[in-house]
Amino acid sequence: PNIYVITPTYARLEQKAELTRLSYTLQHVINLHWILVEDSYTKTPLVTRFLQKSRLSYTHLNVPTPEEYKLSDTDPNWLKPRGVLQRNAGLKWLRDNFNPSSGKGVVYFADDDNTYDLHLFEEMRFTRKVTVWPVGLVGSLRYEKPIVQDGKVTGWYTFWRPERTFAMDMAGFAINANLLLEQSEAKFSLHVKRGGLESEFLTSLGVTLDDLEPKANGCTKILVWHTRTEKSSLKNEEKMVRKYGKGSDPMIEV
Ligand code: UGA
Ligand code: MN
Repeated sequence: PNIYVITPTYARLEQKAELTRLSYTLQHVINLHWILVEDSYTKTPLVTRFLQKSRLSYTHLNVPTPEEYKLSDTDPNWLKPRGVLQRNAGLKWLRDNFNPSSGKGVVYFADDDNTYDLHLFEEMRFTRKVTVWPVGLVGSLRYEKPIVQDGKVTGWYTFWRPERTFAMDMAGFAINANLLLEQSEAKFSLHVKRGGLESEFLTSLGVTLDDLEPKANGCTKILVWHTRTEKSSLKNEEKMVRKYGKGSDPMIEV
């Protein structure tokens, strides 16, 4: 395969729906290997069964986020970075398993809740070092994007801290897998300041602005959307039991 997609995922009511949608997208992409990393102490039966039935080439990993780094229900979502140890587990697997002599490899970090245009994967397939493109529906803007002048990235169209070296969302870039082997220590950090996750990772890879390859027609097309799924309510579950004497069947997997 030449595209390796790393996806952190965690158990919640909407997980199987998210993974179903994402897997159906990935099924349309040739030469793709999915590295799905659960934020959990064990590989859960739900995800294990899901992957077995998925018809994808995949690797199933798991690593738990320690309690003190987890968001609580009342925390604002920007307080702590998410998916950090899971992406790092994916990177470690690639460093152990990617063989550069078998051809080129491209690594993309695809969160389980975003929406991906299939053309995005063809844009990233020929990544020399780092490819970049706009991301829709993010940063409380219609989109965020790299600013491109004469084919080069010169800065960032983003409201929030545009002075960051790489002011992009996770969905906005892909890297050549050889970079991981060359920069064997590069990884995501749990200790970044707000909005620093992507920028500090790319910095740890030894990347400079000059290395960035603008894609998606000079960064003018939106091929990925930072969609977020509404939390589903279960408020009628208990009321069902009280009013009708019978609630939902726990044996039915949702
Ligand atoms: C934004 C970015 O798009 C993420 O790439 C970045 O990780 C995140 O901010 C951050 O600040 O850490 P957002 O939509 O707010 O994303 O985050 P989520 O989609 O909730 O989480 C990102 C990924 O981590 C998802 O694939 C999710 O399944 C996973 N995750 C989330 C876990 O593995 N464990 C968790 O406890 C929460
Ligand atoms: Mn998300």
